[in-house]
Amino acid sequence: MTSRVFLNGQWLVAADARVSVMDRGFLFGDGVYEVIPVYSRRAFRLEQHLARLQQSLDGIQLANPHRLAEWIALVTQLAGEAEWEDVSIYIQVTRGPMAVRNHAFPKEITPTVLLLAEPMIPSPASQRERGISAVSAADIRWLRCDLKATSLLANCLLRQLAVTAGCVETVLFRDGFLTEGSASSIFVVKDGVLLAPIKNHLMLPGITYDVILELAAHHGLPCEVRDITEAETRAADELWMCSSTKEVLPIVALDGREVGVGGTPGPVFARMYDWYQEFKAKVMRAAA
Ligand code: PDD
Repeated sequence: MTSRVFLNGQWLVAADARVSVMDRGFLFGDGVYEVIPVYSRRAFRLEQHLARLQQSLDGIQLANPHRLAEWIALVTQLAGEAEWEDVSIYIQVTRGPMAVRNHAFPKEITPTVLLLAEPMIPSPASQRERGISAVSAADIRWLRCDLKATSLLANCLLRQLAVTAGCVETVLFRDGFLTEGSASSIFVVKDGVLLAPIKNHLMLPGITYDVILELAAHHGLPCEVRDITEAETRAADELWMCSSTKEVLPIVALDGREVGVGGTPGPVFARMYDWYQEFKAKVMRAAA
């Protein structure tokens, strides 16, 4: 990767970018992040991602090191200079280095700010056409899953369960209710109604989740945002996962059992996929 990264006010070749071993992000996972999709060098839903970054910073009591206009300028520069037209931009802000290892926040801090671009590899067409398989697991994460924190060990362990089983995602249940995926939001379709879990401290307020609910409302697809039980999830006609990098994908098998009838992507997914692509194209044309 020859693209430059932005680290603490400097644009550097990635291989030359260095962070202190005393950085609280490294030692404690004391930081927050964002992943912003960029299509044809234009960031999708940038304001919403930056608003969520602010919420995450507020949630960990870390002052935002940049004003909104500065973030927009940084993301725009990176999107414009990246080696690829379609990238995902990763932003990370940690509480920075400390003099001695101490859990308590240092009195004075210099946050570490990193931005980098990675090529956006679209999900293979086969995943969209034939669907993907998922496993399920108990949601073992903490009680502030609404913060996009860099401390992702539980998410990594949960995702690995899927990988070990030859699957793409792990669907999480807490106390008998659906929360989300290890790195995605999850939707259920039952009897033509789109069901979405309520945004609360147990799940990330997904930007793609919002897009999907907006599209459903716009196109008149009936929707219910409410608690969804594990039993309802397992009895779904359709199950979807969505995220900024994977967009929306149909889950056709959960724990080795077919979802809905026939274990194929459902008709509501096919409509949502088209609406999503149409919407993306419209937004990108408007930004051109
Ligand atoms: N993750 N829930 C979790 C736990 C996630 O990590 C993600 C995305 C989502 C979907 O959020 P959004 O639609 O805003 O991307 C939900 C990103 C892509 C990541 O960690 O790489």
